[in-house]
Amino acid sequence: MSKINLDTHFNDPIKEWTARKHLLITRYVVPAAMMMKSIRGKREVALIDGFAGPNSYDGEVKGSTVIMVEAAKNVIEKGASATVYACEEDSDRYKVLTTVLADAIRDGILIAYNSKHHAKVGEIQKSMGSKPAIVFLDPQCPSELTLAGDLKPWTERKSTDILGVFMGGGACRACAQGVLNGQDKEKMEASLGENWRTATTLEAAYEVYESAIGPLKRHFGLYRLRKQEPKTDAYGIFGLSDSPNAMALLSDAVAKDWGVLMQIDASKTTPSLFDFLPEELGEQDSFTSLLEFSRPILKTQRQIKGRELAHAIFAGENGKKAFGQYQWSDYTKAANHVRDEFEKEMAVSN
Ligand SMILES: C[S@@+](CC[C@H](N)C(=O)[O-])C[C@H]1O[C@@H](n2cnc3c(N)ncnc32)[C@H](O)[C@@H]1O
Repeated sequence: MSKINLDTHFNDPIKEWTARKHLLITRYVVPAAMMMKSIRGKREVALIDGFAGPNSYDGEVKGSTVIMVEAAKNVIEKGASATVYACEEDSDRYKVLTTVLADAIRDGILIAYNSKHHAKVGEIQKSMGSKPAIVFLDPQCPSELTLAGDLKPWTERKSTDILGVFMGGGACRACAQGVLNGQDKEKMEASLGENWRTATTLEAAYEVYESAIGPLKRHFGLYRLRKQEPKTDAYGIFGLSDSPNAMALLSDAVAKDWGVLMQIDASKTTPSLFDFLPEELGEQDSFTSLLEFSRPILKTQRQIKGRELAHAIFAGENGKKAFGQYQWSDYTKAANHVRDEFEKEMAVSN
């Protein structure tokens, strides 16, 4: 997206899918920050917004850094410490960011950099010491987020959970162009890995990205979100963590998404992903939904145990709301069944 287009994006009232993204971040980052501070036993946490944006849409103060600052304030209220680090390379957007969040900067909650994220990773990590961290990486186009410069410094760090955004459509357009005219080879390889050339369809773009980043942490999941138009991929949200708890948070945040759509037709507002499915997919039964929902986890964690998978799917309220209240042994049985079905599919496709 050109600067002019992107400026329009921030000058216009917030779009439906951007609002969904913000709700999803809120649902992941706020509880994750709280968990980080208590579970890892260190009463401190760092929150990093690698691609911050101006945090203002048509003058309305909204955005990922605002959400992280709120999450930090929650943690601070509980007597622990929290710091947010934000990078924004564009000077105009940086100026807006530092204006709308001037109080947080003054209070020492936010440290903002007018810089590319990868150029500041080292400095940020030095300043954070060994604090557990939650990192949000939200580039405007796939090539802005590089594997070596933006992702690996975080995936290689302990006690660090990553939430990121990937646009399959943008990746496959860029790849198709790159393949045709031989340009952008380095850029595409830097962001998609060595198989970038095959990412010329939406499906393949997701697969290529999954295979490039999935192995970087023990747990990985990538969920595709949709725009208002049915079945149009807007972008994927991915999570990387050493802990299955983070994956449970992510799947719960995604499941909740359908209830928070700012839909044009308010009668279509539904409380969970699975309540929404019958409307859109008609005959789809809940087992198929469960399989669909588990697929991002199963694709990259082929060794996952039924119990861990059950935890990732059902631990949050929405899993229970969608599939009903059962004993943990039943959830585990269902998760094992889903995993077996997935393995059967894989055997057929090989
Ligand atoms: C999708 S927007 C961010 C939106 C924001 N995260 C939100 O949810 O409100 C991406 C932003 O990243 C900035 N940007 C692009 N490349 C960057 C880089 N390498 N490092 C830091 N910021 C970058 C762009 O100027 C743009 O403002």
